[in-house]
Amino acid sequence: MVKIKTLIKDGMVVDPANNLRKTTNILINGNTVEKIHPKINPREADVVINAEDKLVVPGLIDLHVHLRDPGQTHKEDLATGTMAAAHGGFTSVACMPNTTPVLDTPERVKTLVQRLKKEAHVNVFPVAAVTKGLEGEVVTDFEGLKAAGAVAFSDDGKVVQRASIMHEALKRAEALSLPICQHAEDASLSCGTVINEGEVAEKLGVKGDPDISESVIIARDIVLAARTGGHVHVGHISTERGVTLVRRAKQMGIKVTAEVTPHHLLLTDEYVLKAGPNAKMRPPLRTQQDVEAIRQALADGIIDCIVTDHAPHAAEEKNVDLADAANGIVGLETALGLVLTHLVGEKVLSLEDAIAAMTYKPASILGLDKGMLAVGKDADITIIDLNKKWTVDPEAFFSKSRNTPFSGWQLTGKPVLTMVGGKVVWSDESINIEVVNSDKVS
Ligand code: DOR
Ligand code: ZN
Repeated sequence: MVKIKTLIKDGMVVDPANNLRKTTNILINGNTVEKIHPKINPREADVVINAEDKLVVPGLIDLHVHLRDPGQTHKEDLATGTMAAAHGGFTSVACMPNTTPVLDTPERVKTLVQRLKKEAHVNVFPVAAVTKGLEGEVVTDFEGLKAAGAVAFSDDGKVVQRASIMHEALKRAEALSLPICQHAEDASLSCGTVINEGEVAEKLGVKGDPDISESVIIARDIVLAARTGGHVHVGHISTERGVTLVRRAKQMGIKVTAEVTPHHLLLTDEYVLKAGPNAKMRPPLRTQQDVEAIRQALADGIIDCIVTDHAPHAAEEKNVDLADAANGIVGLETALGLVLTHLVGEKVLSLEDAIAAMTYKPASILGLDKGMLAVGKDADITIIDLNKKWTVDPEAFFSKSRNTPFSGWQLTGKPVLTMVGGKVVWSDESINIEVVNSDKVS
């Protein structure tokens, strides 16, 4: 097969993993980076992408995405979910196992991996279930699941409720050097709850979820991680109490990492009054005090990475009473704009730290050789226009679902081109791609 050479010219390259921030060129040969240098002759390339005045970063990585395929393809499928990822600047995502059927056997992981080769527009790394059917009783075949392609384990959507099961799971995951991503929610405390406990829940007459439903599971899992040496990754952390525990555990050298979503960083439960079911998810939106604590923890590196928890649901699953509405919101196509506008823009994070939290840091949690721009690495690259002003319009999403609380938000900063393994999988009209060797590029 002919290898196409692509030059990304004159972009501001920011690669936090390599402490790089400078205007330079990147030459890509086939699917890998061949050269990064301020002087590269455009004649060396078959295709030239003009990235002047644009930011060029390693392709974004989201380690918490629900693709809904197989079984719930009215919400999303492999093609639409990965196109939504590309549109949001993501070149790699990890997909959660709460599909129908559940991703809990090596055969199912193998089938998914085969399908992804044909249907996915970006790299997808499967996360397999911790327990059979996500039922919390029998730990799955971790060894077989890893051999089939799983990069982590999670019962996300549900929690591994019993300590003895989580203890066994952490021991077995440790032997394979893979993390367990825990959806931290103690069902005995959260059962029957709709949104966060507090005034808003009272006003709406629904049962509220206390913040301790999250932190008691985080505390338990930290104890189990310390005992087993296993790696627990706290999914979508939302509370001040939770980050206090993670901070302490990290100081003690326990193998714990954590992720946070843009919505938990930007919204409180007050927003449920405005957006209704589109502001309903698990864990729920919390208080201003929690928001400030998780922002600080992210800035301090206590929270390692930003994820979307992209959780598509059909309109009929959301356009119902708050108590009956499905949990979760889509996030792939708004995450970067929200992070740039509200976290970088409001100086919660530097640009470098924001990109780090969406590139090499999530890659290192999953043990992926990705998330950086260096010679010989996969050419997974995102080009961003930091000045582009845009309004969130759910009708423009590639996702099949529209359940976002951010509809109508005005943001500054948007991906304009997404390249996966040297191939442009999405770009908008503002970026110039010039074919200079039409013999080679068909
Ligand atoms: O709100 C949520 N929705 N939280 C989860 O953990 C699961 C997700 C889903 O699958 O819809
Ligand atoms: Zn979850």
